[in-house]
Amino acid sequence: MTYQEYTRIGKERLLQSGVEVGDALDHMHRILEAVLRLSSTERILKANETLSPGQLASLENVLQRRCAGEPLQYILGEADFWNSRFKVGKGVLIPRPETELLVEKALERIVSPSARIAELGAGSGAIGITCLLERPKWEWFAWELNPASLSYCRTNLSLLGSFKNYHLLEADFFNGFGTYAPFDWIVANPPYIRRSEIPTLSREVSHEPTLALDGGITGLEVLEKMLSPRIIAALTPGGGVLLEIGEDQGPAVLRLLEQVGLVESSIEKDLAGRDRVAYGRKPK
Ligand SMILES: C[S@@+](CC[C@H](N)C(=O)[O-])C[C@H]1O[C@@H](n2cnc3c(N)ncnc32)[C@H](O)[C@@H]1O
Repeated sequence: MTYQEYTRIGKERLLQSGVEVGDALDHMHRILEAVLRLSSTERILKANETLSPGQLASLENVLQRRCAGEPLQYILGEADFWNSRFKVGKGVLIPRPETELLVEKALERIVSPSARIAELGAGSGAIGITCLLERPKWEWFAWELNPASLSYCRTNLSLLGSFKNYHLLEADFFNGFGTYAPFDWIVANPPYIRRSEIPTLSREVSHEPTLALDGGITGLEVLEKMLSPRIIAALTPGGGVLLEIGEDQGPAVLRLLEQVGLVESSIEKDLAGRDRVAYGRKPK
């Protein structure tokens, strides 16, 4: 079987297994490139070459796992975010393209070159590492509770640069925050999914850690704790918060921002027009 034939057959099998129409061909290209260690140009040039039995066996292994619902990023062990490729696997949230809006807003709104920033939930390190690659003088403090996430974050920190300003703290954000305060900003993608909704999410999401998703009964429980007087008191005047939120949480989070005394509060929408990032500033 040639590369091209396998791509076509694999795409059909992915579609039959429930992979979305817009993703199936892209998945096949990524599988071929990752398994056979090819650039996209090499893959295209080899379109009419025949795959060896060994190559086919390796490709089949990946394709079968993907058809069974495992996220492609877990199978290949990597996920693209902004301009970098992050190591990921079981136990760490796969960084989402939507979260790039949070990074974009942080780069736009945080003007101090030496800002001290706190993050609840480092995960793979995608947000903090990306921000420090763009703003190397920021001081980043990221809390994380999940041992698998901590391990992936450490790997990404060592592979993607030299990050003296990234402090990965192995503890509960709500216990450790005060020790390192004051901070200028909180930038985070906290868990914000309603607990009852988690079992209804896609089969891919069911492979991801519940701790990364679970926002309690209302979905707003972690956001409410972050937007509490105790946390906001530990921010420097003129600083603020930038938080990723769920698409139906804009009005509720706007109320939380205002209740805790933040000003200029707003909800930024993602490219699909859905509420995605909450912003509020502490008065000077
Ligand atoms: C939605 S994920 C975000 C991960 C990563 N920042 C990203 O955007 O890809 C939330 C993360 O917060 C972590 N987490 C949840 N509650 C926490 C807490 N109280 N303290 C520290 N980390 C927490 C989870 O383990 C998970 O990695």
